[in-house]
Amino acid sequence: MSVRRLRIGMIGIGVGGAEILRAMDGMETIEVVAGADLVPETLRRFNERFPEARTYLSAEELCRDDNVDAVWVSSPNRFHAEHTIMAANHGKHIVVEKPMAISLAEAGAMVEAAEKNGVKLLAGHTRAFTTPIRAMRKIIQSGYYGQLRALNIWSYSDWMLRPRTADELDINQGGGIPYRQGPHQVDTVRLLGGGLVRSIRAQTGDWMKERSIPGYYSAFLEFENGLPATIVHNGYGYFVGAELVPWGSDKHIYTAQQRGDIRRQLRAGTRDETTDKQSIRIGGSREKEYFYDESKNPWVPEDMGFAIASLDRADLRQSQFGVFVHDDDGKHDLDVVPDHEMGMVQRRAELEELYASVVHGTPLWHDGRWGMATLEVCLAIIESAKQRREIMLQHQMPVRDDYDADMAVPLPVTMAGGKH
Ligand SMILES: NC(=O)c1ccc[n+]([C@@H]2O[C@H](COP(=O)([O-])OP(=O)(O)OC[C@H]3O[C@@H](n4cnc5c(N)ncnc54)[C@H](O)[C@@H]3O)[C@@H](O)[C@H]2O)c1
Repeated sequence: MSVRRLRIGMIGIGVGGAEILRAMDGMETIEVVAGADLVPETLRRFNERFPEARTYLSAEELCRDDNVDAVWVSSPNRFHAEHTIMAANHGKHIVVEKPMAISLAEAGAMVEAAEKNGVKLLAGHTRAFTTPIRAMRKIIQSGYYGQLRALNIWSYSDWMLRPRTADELDINQGGGIPYRQGPHQVDTVRLLGGGLVRSIRAQTGDWMKERSIPGYYSAFLEFENGLPATIVHNGYGYFVGAELVPWGSDKHIYTAQQRGDIRRQLRAGTRDETTDKQSIRIGGSREKEYFYDESKNPWVPEDMGFAIASLDRADLRQSQFGVFVHDDDGKHDLDVVPDHEMGMVQRRAELEELYASVVHGTPLWHDGRWGMATLEVCLAIIESAKQRREIMLQHQMPVRDDYDADMAVPLPVTMAGGKH
C-alpha cells in the first residue's frame, strides 16, 4: 500500500534547517519539495541535496506553491510570526521552530491565523520531544512511584561561543539564552510537570563584553499544584555539562582548548563568524560532521542539560540511551532509544506528530497554544529579571491526557512485576 507523503517546504535553510533536513531524509512519510532562503548560494546547495525540490528567494513565493502541504519555519526568530501567518493564509500546515515568536501578541496572532484557516500549527523542535524525556513522563504518569515532587534542569553549554549572526546577539530580535535555549527546558518541565505553570521568579546574566545579550538565567517556577521546578542555563562554556557524566568529556560542540581560542578571537575581534556559521549550514564543510553522525553516541548533557524528576519513591534522570530510575532497589537503566533513532534521526518527533495529525486526524499535542504557553514562561524569565519580582502567568495549558498514549516504555523489573 502506498503511503501518503506530506510535501514539505523549508523556510530558512540555516543551521536549524540543516539539522531538521537530516531528520527528514529517509522518512517515507515526508517529501522535501521546496525551499526558500534569501541567499542564492544556500538555495544552490539545497538543490544539490534535493534536486527535485523547487527553490524560492522569498517565503511568500514558497507559500504560493500549490504543491507544498506544510512548511517548516526555521527563519530567524523575528520572522517566525510573519512566515507562519503567511503560510496559514495560504492553507499550509506549519511547524515553527523555537522560540515560537518574540512576543505573546505575535504568538496570539499565529494561533488565530492557524485556527481561522483550519491548518495545523505545531510549535516544535525542543528536546522535550526526545524519547527519554517522554519516557520519563510515562513513568511519572504511571503513578507507580507516587507523586511528582520536584523538577530540576540545569544546563552548562557553549551556546554563546558558537558562530552567531547579528540578530542572534540582539535580545529585541529574540537573541540570547532565554529566547533561544529557554524553550528546551521550559517545554520539558511543562511536559513533565503537567503544563500549568503558575509563576516565575528569575534572574538573567550578561557578563561577556563581546556578546552583550543574556548568556545565563536561573529561574524558579511554581506550578498551579505547588510543584517546584528550577531551570538554569549557563551558555558561556567555561565548564560544559558533558563532563558531568562518566561517559562524557570536556567537549560539547568544542573542546575546552577550542573554547579558549574562540574567546581570545572574540576579544581580539578576529573571529570570522560568517564563514564559521556557513560551514555548518547545508553543504558546508562541517555540516556532515555536525548533523550526519549516526553512530550510537550516548546522550551527554548538552543544550537542554540534565533533568532530574523527584517522586515520592524515586528519582528519574537521563542515561546514555534512556532513563535511569533510582528507586529502593537501586539504579535501573531503561534503554528507550532504539539504534535506528541515533543522531539527528532522533529529531523526527515533530514531523511524526504533524503527519499523524494531518493524515490521520490525531490530536496535535504541541499546538500553537502549547507553544504560546512555553513562550510566556521564557518572556516571564526576562521580565522577572528586569522587574526583580515574581511574574504570574495567564496563558498556560495542560498536557493533554492522550499525549503519547501509544508509547510503550520498558519498566524496571519491579514495576513490571508489580512488586513494591
Ligand atoms: N531546535 C533546535 O535545536 C535549533 C537549532 C538551531 C536553530 N534553531 C532555530 O532555527 C532558527 C534559525 O536559526 P539558525 O541558527 O538556523 O540561523 P541561520 O542564520 O543559520 O538560519 C536562518 C536562515 O534563514 C534565512 N533567512 C533570513 N531571513 C529570511 C527570510 N526573510 N526569508 C527566508 N529565509 C530567510 C537565512 O539566510 C538563513 O539561511 C531560529 O529560530 C533558531 O532558534 C533551532
